Amino acid sequence: MSAFITFEGGDGCGKSSQSRALLQHLQRERVPALLTREPGGTALGESISRWLKWHKETELSAAGELLLFSASRNQLVNEVIAPALKRGETVICDRFYDSTLAYQGYGRGLDLDIIKQLNDLAAEGLKPTFTILLDIPADQGLARKNAASRDRFEKEELAFHEQVRQGYLQLARNEPQRFLVVDALLPKKDIAAIIWTRVTKLLSP
Ligand code: TMP
Repeated sequence: MSAFITFEGGDGCGKSSQSRALLQHLQRERVPALLTREPGGTALGESISRWLKWHKETELSAAGELLLFSASRNQLVNEVIAPALKRGETVICDRFYDSTLAYQGYGRGLDLDIIKQLNDLAAEGLKPTFTILLDIPADQGLARKNAASRDRFEKEELAFHEQVRQGYLQLARNEPQRFLVVDALLPKKDIAAIIWTRVTKLLSP
């Protein structure tokens, strides 16, 4: 069975390296799989991502930010994720629409119901089968990021990142069947093992 697996978590939680590790494990087991990411994953998405993360001259409103993430997501779903799922591949995505609820909703304070509607539109109704939340205290996640090369989000105040973390934990409580919450402070190989145990269960017929 193919699945759509998403990785979520605050900045510095280690989800990029865990999503790569999961892809490699699936490939070793000869499961057809693809890894992509948000924002990005397409030419349009990578360009939007650069604006969102690095553009210093333009002051972006919270709503503008939300719409740009949504545009990037819609392109990724149509160009990459939906076709791969249709081919029977398992898709791993480093961030998906829960990031928008956590960052633009709980972090920036935009209306959660509006975000949910936009998420639905941008994702063409597609929902992750399974979501891994790598939970880390905000200060410890940020401490893993080099202060000199922080992007627009990483430069936000600690209180913003704490709201994002609490938002993620609330999302996981709302949908305990879909979310696996893993302590991101555990050793990398232990995290990978916990994830693999759940993924094998998910993929077994
Ligand atoms: P990353 O490539 O390091 O994960 O950075 C992406 C940043 O964008 C990260 O700080 C989270 C943020 N983000 C949002 O605010 N909303 C979203 O919908 C997504 C996908 C990411």
